[in-house]
Formats: sequence, C-alpha cells, structure tokens
Amino acid sequence: MENNIWWRNAVIYQIYPRSFADSNADGLGDLPGITGRLDYLADLGIDAIWLSPFYPTPDKDFGYDISDYCNVDPRFGTLADFDTLVAESHRRGIRVILDMVMNHTSDQHPWFMESRANRDNPKRDWYIWRDTPNNWEACFGGRAWEYDPSSGQYYLHLFTREQPDVNWRNPEVRKAQLEAFRFWLERGADGFRLDVFNAYFKHPDFPDNPPRFGLRGFDRQKHIYDMDQPEMIPLLNELRTLLDSYPDRYAVGETYLGSAQKAASYCGADKLHAAFSFDFTSADVSVLMSGLLYSWKPRWIMQKVQERDRIFDAAGVWPTTVMSNHDLPRAVSRYSRGEEDGMAKIIMTILLTLRGTPFLYQGEEIAMRETPLEHSEIVDPPGRKYWPIYKGRDGCRTPMQWDDSPHAGFSSVTPWLHVHPNYRQRNVAAQQADPASMLNFTKALIALRKSHPALQDGDFLPVAATRHILAYLRRNETGAILIAMNFSRRPRTLTLPATLHPRERLLTSAQGTLPPSGQALPLAPREACLWLC
Ligand code: NOJ
Repeated sequence: MENNIWWRNAVIYQIYPRSFADSNADGLGDLPGITGRLDYLADLGIDAIWLSPFYPTPDKDFGYDISDYCNVDPRFGTLADFDTLVAESHRRGIRVILDMVMNHTSDQHPWFMESRANRDNPKRDWYIWRDTPNNWEACFGGRAWEYDPSSGQYYLHLFTREQPDVNWRNPEVRKAQLEAFRFWLERGADGFRLDVFNAYFKHPDFPDNPPRFGLRGFDRQKHIYDMDQPEMIPLLNELRTLLDSYPDRYAVGETYLGSAQKAASYCGADKLHAAFSFDFTSADVSVLMSGLLYSWKPRWIMQKVQERDRIFDAAGVWPTTVMSNHDLPRAVSRYSRGEEDGMAKIIMTILLTLRGTPFLYQGEEIAMRETPLEHSEIVDPPGRKYWPIYKGRDGCRTPMQWDDSPHAGFSSVTPWLHVHPNYRQRNVAAQQADPASMLNFTKALIALRKSHPALQDGDFLPVAATRHILAYLRRNETGAILIAMNFSRRPRTLTLPATLHPRERLLTSAQGTLPPSGQALPLAPREACLWLC
C-alpha cells in the first residue's frame, strides 16, 4: 500500500455549496461564500474540501443534474470565483475535490437536447434509448424508462426522469467525459468524488433484474444488470492514467449500493484511490425506510470496523470513514435525541480515530441536527414522492449555522431551506467561545490525529466492545493510543488488559473525570477519551 500520501492522512470536509455561505444575498450559498470561510476551515485543521456540485443545473436534483460540466452556475459564481477559491484554498494548504456526476446529465444538457431531437441525430447514441423498456426501476421511484413521444423511444434514467443516463459505451461520450475531468485538473482541482460511478455501465443486452425482497420497487430488485459491469475497471484504469499525469491527484468513488467488498474491489494503484463503503450508514438507511431503530451499539460498531478493515487490508487498499453526508439523516440525529452532545462527540471520536480517511460533512463539527421540515417545505424529489415514509434529504441540507443573527449568519435574506430553529444556541460563534463545545472537541481531535502518527497509520487493536463500552488501541512504532467511549448515560468502568497502562490523558469529552486505578478506567456518562499508553 502506498504510504505517506496526502489523502491517506487527510481529513476531508464536504461542503454542500448552496447551504454553506451566501455572499450575494440570494438565499443560496456560493463559491465566494466558501472562500470567505476558508480561514474557519483552516483553523478547524482539515486538509481538503469536497464541493458538492456547483455547475449549471436546472435543480431537479439540486445540482446532481448538470447541464454543463465545464462551468459554474451563475447562482454559485463564475469560473473566476472558482479559480480564486482554489488559489485561496491552496494558500492555506487546503486541497479542493470536485464532485463529478457522470452517470447522467440533466435533460437540459445540450447533449441530451440533441440526442432526443430525432433518431438520426449524431448524439442519439450518447444516451440509452430503447424501443421497449425492461423491468429496471429508478432509484427515486417509478420505472427507469421514460417514453419520449416525439422520437417514439424510451430513454433510461436511474434517478429522476430529468437525469438521463449517458451511454458510456459510446467512445465519443467517454472522450467528452474524460475531457471534463481534464478541464478541472487544468484549473487546479486536486481530485474528484465520482457520483454513483459503479452505475456508469449497464449490461449491453438489458436483461431484467431478478427480484429480491424489499419495500420500494427499486429495493425489490437485485441490481446485477444496471450496475457493476466489468467494463468499469478498464475505464478506471484510463481515468487513473489521466489523474496520474498530474501530481498528487486523488479520486474517491461513491460506490452505489456497495458493500465494503465491492468498494475495495474498485481501489488500487491503477484504479480509484478510495471508494466509500458506508459501513456505518448503509445498514441504517434501510432500517430508516422501514422505521425501525438504528443499530448503533459498541458491538455492532466493532464488528463493522473489523470486517471493513479486514476486507480493505486483504485488497491492499485504504478505507474511508463516513458518518454523515448530504444524502443521509445527520448521524447525531440518527443515533441520539435532544440537544445534548455526548453522542455527537462519540460519533466524532470514532470518525476521527479509525483507520481510513475521515470525511466530515459541513456542520458535523458543531453537531448540527437534522432540521424538521413540513411536507410543504420539502423540495427533494424522493422526499416529495415517499413522504411520510421517507422524508427526503432536505433535513441534512439546511444552511450552515454560523452565528445567532437572523438566518444563522448564512444569508441576509430568507434561505432556500430554513435554518434549524436551534441556531440561536447551536452555531459556530457560540461554540468557538466555549472550550467544552463540540467544535473545540472536534478541533482537538483533528489536531491529535495530525500530531500522533499512530492515529493515522497505526494498527487497530480491539480492547472492548460490551453493551456500553467501545474501546480500541491505535498503535505503531511511535506509540499507542487508547480510545475509550461510554455509550450509556451512567458512569461505567472499563477493565483494561494487564498489558495496557494509560499514561497521559490526551483528550476527554467529559469534565472532572477520575484517573485510572490499577486496570480500571472510570468513564463518565457518554464520555469519549483518548489516552497515551
Ligand atoms: C448520489 C448523490 O450523492 C445524490 O445526492 C444524488 O441524488 C444521486 N447520486 C444522483 O446523482
């Protein structure tokens, strides 16, 4: 495995641009808004930002429907603003990762407008057209095929009908898409996050997907013909060659419906650098759909970590850790209730002390909660379709809470989604001033991860996974760090193995805790702590 490579040790921070900072008072965040907050991010200690899409878009899937890959939507700024953002980020040692959404375009992309114009159009084959549909379902509900009356055929869309899937088997499409990567590489992008990359290729014969048990139509099929086709590997090889022709570039794939096994299979020296495996979230999404409780217990977590690490190690590749993103209910709201931050600090501790590259989602560092929204406020397509069984993704996309001024300092006008009503107490400014805040805890964890190499590349050694306690060691030749967490609301005691001697407490989320006595380490309610051993 490649060592000492920036992205292995990096902490990556995801920005959802329309909700981060609004510099021009239109209620939407924008690129200059992000530039204006770079000092905050540098102070937090992160190494890279991943920007969710800011390209021109009709907003049918809030930026994930792109109508021009090589431009900035005027609502988010200009190409010059992008250049400034990159230059200012680099000046602060922050790398910039862009979201490439290349499984589909918007139906307003000129390529699709040409393609649908008539059957003889040279771009007809740039998308997937058929006389008869098969049984494939769209992820956001309904059939994956839309009839186009003017040209008398169906086109494929795995997401909304305004997001037609491109035909990656067409060499001109492949060339055009790779040119878009090159365009941003030339402008200084340090890497890419590839949206649903493992769906790029579909089986050439379009067989029906076989059935499986599930709630919604999409979940009631085994996605063996619309995803994960073997042609993806040579494409990744080609993309990697392109990335490697620039210094230090990086690509992380969003493995759609992917197990750790599948994610790892797409990584390697001639493939992706990394791929999300969503070990701590994906089980929860299906649980959420059926309205059951989440499994967020020490034993479950320990098992997931070990399983993931075993799989990635066997493949000789490096994992990623994700707790929250723009598609999921915020982890703190999934795994706890109320405004108390004990569980948020446990989640952050796990995120920042496991092996693998941690991805933080904007606002996670102040433990922003999922925002409750009325049905009439929902704008996300799957939320509108499946309400109230599934309320969509708007709740995790509401504006960043900067201070206690109106609209949380995000904007001077009413934002596109309203801010969480807790913003008067829960905001960056308030937490900066409070030494015991979530923000300061997160900052301290990031700093520890940087100053203790054992937290970056050390081995992971389990210590305890009981009903209430999760504890493990990260160890390399420079030392060992014990990470211990009490998930319960009562004081508990961790019995340490005889060989383990905590010497110095590096960080704790609790106050006035007791030192270890012999092999007994007392843990306050919901305490997360790190000890040098
Ligand atoms: C995955 C993205 O994360 C999600 O936000 C989007 O809706 C779909 N891909 C479609 O692009």
